[in-house]
Amino acid sequence: MGSFIMDKFVINGGKPLNGTVRISGAKNSTLALMPAALLSSGVFHLRNTPVLRDVNTMAALLRTMGMGVELNEHVLTLNTTGVDRYEAPYEHVKKMRASIYVLGPLLARYGRAKVSLPGGCAWGPRPVNLHIEAIRKLGAEVDLKEGYIIAKAGRLNGARIHFDISSVGATGNTLMAAVLARGTTVIENAAIEPEITQLAEFLITMGARINGAGTSRLEIEGVDILHAADIETIPDRIEAGTFLVAGALGRGTVTLTGVRPAHLAAVMAKLEDAGAHLTIGPDTVTLKAPPELRPVDVTANIYPGFPTDMQAQWTALMAVANGTSVVTDSIYFDRFKHIPEMIRLGADIEVKDNAAIIRGTHHLAGAKVMSTDLRASASLILAGLVAEGVTEVLRVYHLDRGYEGIEKKIRALGADIERVAGEEF
Ligand code: UD1
Repeated sequence: MGSFIMDKFVINGGKPLNGTVRISGAKNSTLALMPAALLSSGVFHLRNTPVLRDVNTMAALLRTMGMGVELNEHVLTLNTTGVDRYEAPYEHVKKMRASIYVLGPLLARYGRAKVSLPGGCAWGPRPVNLHIEAIRKLGAEVDLKEGYIIAKAGRLNGARIHFDISSVGATGNTLMAAVLARGTTVIENAAIEPEITQLAEFLITMGARINGAGTSRLEIEGVDILHAADIETIPDRIEAGTFLVAGALGRGTVTLTGVRPAHLAAVMAKLEDAGAHLTIGPDTVTLKAPPELRPVDVTANIYPGFPTDMQAQWTALMAVANGTSVVTDSIYFDRFKHIPEMIRLGADIEVKDNAAIIRGTHHLAGAKVMSTDLRASASLILAGLVAEGVTEVLRVYHLDRGYEGIEKKIRALGADIERVAGEEF
């Protein structure tokens, strides 16, 4: 393997954290809203768009199809009047699984789509069988050839779809396919994550007829045509949760602004169990860190359960709690690649099946650690904030996928963290 140059974060741990941090727009909302624009011809504006590598990746993919994509002051302008290609090549999809979101809208609007299969990811296989079964039910002819999903249809037909597993991506794709289908589609066991609810609301603003947004039963009455629309992206509940955990580790008081507290209920309840004191406003949350963290078990589950995208960060918190806790992931069974790295910082953690057993310690010590995915990277930064001495988190490009200016935001709270260019390995 050749060596290459990348940024790293250098953290001098142990500083108390105090102050206010503004939470950005939700990555996972933006990644669904952008491809939804393929469903109609016109000019769209997405306000509160976060500046992230994953948003750039989606922009690059949509541009290859002829969409105009401009991001200016957190307003994303999408111009779909020139869309004339219907393919998502491997070079794009391999960078980001959410590229699969173009499948439903391309098929619904243009009657064809060629989308690379995403393959595995850093923490194991992540199939797309539910997406494919659903578009087949809507009448598409689907071939899997040379690593691609090749889908064709005349106009799609409404159908009854029951998902065996509640899937965010499959619900989003099916919803985007069904809005232009002939007749009624019912999606049962639909995902109710807030990002899917926002997608449904956006589609309704575009002229779609959807009942049950925010519930696990969506009923869609297909329409002939949709129009362009504008929307403000909801705040990122995972970024917010990550900063709440930072606050709980930081021994001070941290206020988040621009959040929707209702979306943070599971994480906030667990933080209170751990001893943090929370004050909740209409769009703010203030966390006062406890003098000592109590151990609290969590099981990551579908919304409104504790998010799988927060379990690594919770593990960092529990690594310094006063006792033993268990973090279980019931969505991704082997999402524990951060554990060996946390152990290098002095954490006492054992992985058994889909659970991490964490014996809290009062002493983590800085080391060089390497992240393998977005949330794992975030958890290593959190651990670095409390470790004594210097922690270097390598491969920070993972963090740039999903956290806007994370080091600036944490530094503003009083942490000693720097981005340093060029780590060779
Ligand atoms: C989305 C989020 C991701 C989050 C995940 C779970 C985006 C862009 N990404 O990912 O950050 O971690 O939800 O909250 O919104 N499954 C199948 N077959 C399928 C599809 C999914 O078996 O066709 C399984 C998955 O392996 C997993 C479960 O369903 O065990 C849930 O995955 P899903 O909700 O689809 O996750 P994503 O949409 O990929």
